[in-house]
Amino acid sequence: MPDIFSDLLLSWYDAHARALPWRGIHNAYHTWVSETMLQQTRVETVLSYYERFLSRFPTVEALADAPEDEVLKLWEGLGYYRRAANLHRGAQQVMAEYGGELPQSVDTLKKISGIGEYTAGAIASIAFDQQVPAVDGNVIRVVSRVRGIRENVGVPSVRRRLQREAAALVPKTRPGDFNQAMMDLGATVCVPGTPSCEGCPVAALCDAYHAGDAEDLPELPRKNPPRNIDYDLCLLFSGNRVLMRQRTERMLQGLWVFPMLEEHHAPGRLPGLVRRALGLTASVPEAAGESRHVFTHQVWRMRIYLMHVKEETAPEGWRFVTAEEMDALALPTAVEKAAAIVREKLKGGNAHAQNGPRTENP
Ligand code: ADE
Repeated sequence: MPDIFSDLLLSWYDAHARALPWRGIHNAYHTWVSETMLQQTRVETVLSYYERFLSRFPTVEALADAPEDEVLKLWEGLGYYRRAANLHRGAQQVMAEYGGELPQSVDTLKKISGIGEYTAGAIASIAFDQQVPAVDGNVIRVVSRVRGIRENVGVPSVRRRLQREAAALVPKTRPGDFNQAMMDLGATVCVPGTPSCEGCPVAALCDAYHAGDAEDLPELPRKNPPRNIDYDLCLLFSGNRVLMRQRTERMLQGLWVFPMLEEHHAPGRLPGLVRRALGLTASVPEAAGESRHVFTHQVWRMRIYLMHVKEETAPEGWRFVTAEEMDALALPTAVEKAAAIVREKLKGGNAHAQNGPRTENP
């Protein structure tokens, strides 16, 4: 079946391919950057980030030589920031271990920081014309329907079967186009829920189409609902500066945030809690609004308060920054509203100067 299947799919792709800036190039670094950004992220969101990232870091070497803070700043708003840190570390590894050139085989690519099975397959097929699959969420959906895989795709043995079935479909010629055609088919035709089988070039070869159960596939693992976490986010001003710290936790590591006290408290209790947590003497809080942010596993429900502190020296691990300094740091979208309030207060207006989509992930 591979040849008929791929002929039909590639003809469809030639007529319907989305024109995207990372297509039609044979530059493994560009493919690495685009495929990393595209993980868990919509194509429309990635477009502007991709262009900006490559104009600032046009080569693996330029990326490897950059400070991590600058890499994170360019990733600001894109979410899943570990991707950026891993890509940066991976670039340094490619310089140190592979003479600045990405290796061509899937197994060697997978030794590089941030490159897993999917990204290795995407780079090897798109940039190096290797006959290997690139199995992302869209491709899982397409393959489970085409091959009639009616088992839970979260189970490792089922995942391995999907990988094998996907591999068997990839043609010898144009493997990179084929893989991207599978992604496009999954994104535009073989969509979750009710697919548009009438517009599908491979419906005649599709097991689920004939069985009439495409809507029920794939069988996805049950996901736990995200956990709500309440925070009082405290904007602590010392003169024209506000208190921030760079996160060291796994979630949002390397990004800059304001003090956040878990749970919601009566505002009158906040100065006491700020003293206990940070050793600072804070004024009566002024309520400045609320903000909510949905991550994959958590929902942050934030109440934002303004306070002035007497001290001019930041506690250990913290820094007082001006609005201009804050704007040069990488902040997660989760605290964007709080940052806009800081800007408004310290700069008097221009509160919405910053970029960014509204949702993101750690
Ligand atoms: N999603 C992940 N990689 C993609 C690609 N190369 N084209 C379109 N969508 C994608």
